[in-house]
Amino acid sequence: MIIKPKGTYDIYGIDMQKLEFINMLVNSYADTYNFKAIRTPIFESSELFHRSVGETSDIVTKETYDFVDRGDRKLSLRPEGTASIVRSYIENKMYGNKNDATKLFYNETMYRYERPQSGRNREFTQFGFELFGSNNEETDAELISLGYHLLNDAHLNKNIIIHLNSLGDNESRSNYQKALVQYLEPYLNELCEDCQKRIKTNPLRILDCKVDAENPILKKIPKINDYLSTDAQNQFKIVCHYLNLLDLNYEIDSNLVRGLDYYDHTIFEYITDDDDKITLGGGGRYNSLVKELGGPDTPAIGFACGIERIMNLINNDDLKGKEIDAYLMSINEEEKIKSLVLSDLLRLNNLVIETNNNNLSMKSQFKIADELHSKFIIILNSEDLKKGLIKVKDNLTKEETLVDENEIVDYLLTNI
Ligand code: HAM
Repeated sequence: MIIKPKGTYDIYGIDMQKLEFINMLVNSYADTYNFKAIRTPIFESSELFHRSVGETSDIVTKETYDFVDRGDRKLSLRPEGTASIVRSYIENKMYGNKNDATKLFYNETMYRYERPQSGRNREFTQFGFELFGSNNEETDAELISLGYHLLNDAHLNKNIIIHLNSLGDNESRSNYQKALVQYLEPYLNELCEDCQKRIKTNPLRILDCKVDAENPILKKIPKINDYLSTDAQNQFKIVCHYLNLLDLNYEIDSNLVRGLDYYDHTIFEYITDDDDKITLGGGGRYNSLVKELGGPDTPAIGFACGIERIMNLINNDDLKGKEIDAYLMSINEEEKIKSLVLSDLLRLNNLVIETNNNNLSMKSQFKIADELHSKFIIILNSEDLKKGLIKVKDNLTKEETLVDENEIVDYLLTNI
């Protein structure tokens, strides 16, 4: 038997319903906030992720699925969406309309070579919202609230709290990095092997190291908030003020740095408000990325959420399957032919119909109709059919009615 690759999964049954429910929410929020859908390739030039997500980030050093194609091109399966969207924004010159923000959303599979565990897969799905061309603090608040409301609308069995921080501008980060190095250097040998390298290549990454997460040395680490420039501090204060106005449940988390290199200023994560602290999504400003990848200087902000993690927090009982309007029962050849023709007609009238697919007995068909919670059972019976009549049983009241076959569509449409 051939089995699926490690870290991948099949979605079917109730999970498919959960996925469709989240997709529906994402599309509906995109509509109300006026974001337009975008689709980009599953694979991109590896250089794109090196230059955006960061050469020294965990994603690029350990997690990308890299391959060389038959034309010797170095490609990677996308580990996240932002880099591709920025590439597409520049390549397709979407910055043409300078007066208005460009608002894009996606809902796509991503690939990271991670150690699979609950909520951490090698193939997973992210929905994301990216907004280009506005540096207003209102935009930060609007985007953060979009994700927060969407997650709250998903009827999760846990509450969500927004973790918020600011990485400030280049100057703030460079001052902070110096302070970090100064603090950590005496403890170098007590850090994990990766962090010993990070201190030289990208000290900020030490703050989100999975190995050193519980290391007591990191508990007393300097906080970035103390190194923010006055402008960055003011900007952050305004964002917090707006989140208060919108009454969003947030807390300032001064250890939050996010695992991707392109961020500056506001960063945030949606985390469950319990001991599990499951991160459902995250994002932030990336005001320099468009320029760094060759586009015009364009501020931008966005976030993405992991759909599988959200699905894990939706109770099965909270999802109603698609209800069957009518189950068509048939036994003999004449009844089966009538079932074929009538089901076709009813489905064209938008009714959800199931039929006897497997030559079942009357008893088994009644049982299946009950299991499917069919509202009506249409008992096609040769005797009735000869008189131009069709027996309809209301499966809730158990009442049976003989309906003229020419009126069956109207009868069902009015009684459903
Ligand atoms: P990220 O924090 O790397 O950000 O991923 C966002 C979300 O994707 C995570 O919070 C998590 O729910 C989900 N996720 C990440 N890795 C996995 C995995 N291996 N298995 C299952 N779910 C996973 C980004 O990707 C940024 N592009 C977000 C962003 C958009 N920033 C600005 N715009």
